[in-house]
Amino acid sequence: MKKILVIGAGGQIGSELVLQLRNRFGEQSVVASDVKPECPAIIINGPYFQLDILNKEEVRNFIISNSFTDVYLLAALLSATAEKNPDFAWKLNMEGLFTILDLAKEGYLKKIFWPSSIAVFGPTTPKNHTPQYTIMEPSTVYGISKQAGERWCEYYFNKFGVDVRSIRYPGLISYTSLPGGGTTDYAVDIFYRAKKEAKFNCFLSADTELPMMYMEDAIRATIELMEAPKEAIKIRSAYNLSGCSFTPSQLTDKIVDHIPTFEITYSPDFRQLIADSWPKSIDDSHARNDWGWKEKFDLEKIVDIMLENVNSDLI
Ligand code: NAD
Ligand code: SER
Repeated sequence: MKKILVIGAGGQIGSELVLQLRNRFGEQSVVASDVKPECPAIIINGPYFQLDILNKEEVRNFIISNSFTDVYLLAALLSATAEKNPDFAWKLNMEGLFTILDLAKEGYLKKIFWPSSIAVFGPTTPKNHTPQYTIMEPSTVYGISKQAGERWCEYYFNKFGVDVRSIRYPGLISYTSLPGGGTTDYAVDIFYRAKKEAKFNCFLSADTELPMMYMEDAIRATIELMEAPKEAIKIRSAYNLSGCSFTPSQLTDKIVDHIPTFEITYSPDFRQLIADSWPKSIDDSHARNDWGWKEKFDLEKIVDIMLENVNSDLI
């Protein structure tokens, strides 16, 4: 019997992942947990437990005593927030991973999902169609933590047979929860501002191209990767994954098709340097070949859905 724990379930990815996992495996089989004391309203349909991933003993006891089989570890500081608090970002992003990898190594877990990011790449990485295997010299604390995490995941697989699976998510776009402090957040914020006041001040420059993905695609990829047969998973660091790529200016043009009065201004801040160090587009042929990945949402579909569904009262 599968019993799933999602850690960091109250965030942008976790809230949608929990709902999809519950649809698939049953409400009682998927426990959501987060450091937040209250269960976020969106995932109230099943069990919730307040859990701090940095409280190693409590996490160990909770996982062992409840006989969880699979853990999705999502708790982390994202790129922009991490730059403001590098010490804590390193601690949060790394210590939790070791707690979960060690539980699997000791035989208490069957499978782990831990997300990586396009932030593992850096200024010396080829920017277009960035290959799976290439130069990786990340220049942010977030990217360094994700790259180190990837190395440790592969190490635990090779040395101890831990079944850990990972994706280098691009920037994720969704309307159910607000994003949690990333450099790609502009591509979510813009929809709220477009709907609320038909204007947006963007913290990246007009021509900053970044890889992005609609959340439904990202959740489907995550579950497909986790449900793929073990033999199909050839990469135990993290898979490149691609949805679509666009600039703030290209996104604006699509929004103007729906809201002709929409106007964008640009005030690049510290996040511009982060974005400039990341790829423009991603080659995800390994994910396509190994476990059949294919995206469904292009920029036009994303804009249609976001403008229809964002609740601008949330900001
Ligand atoms: P988020 O910030 O929206 O959510 C993270 C959640 O973790 C929050 O609900 C937060 O309360 C929780 N959390 C923080 N500290 C915790 C702790 N000590 N114990 C337990 N929970 C804690 O982030 P997200 O966008 O949902 O990202 C989830 C994961 O996916 C992260 O590892 C992130 O690096 C990765 N990722 C996200 C994106 C993206 O665009 N959203 C892209 C690439 C990778
Ligand atoms: N969306 C994430 C960020 O901007 C990428 O990992 O931090």
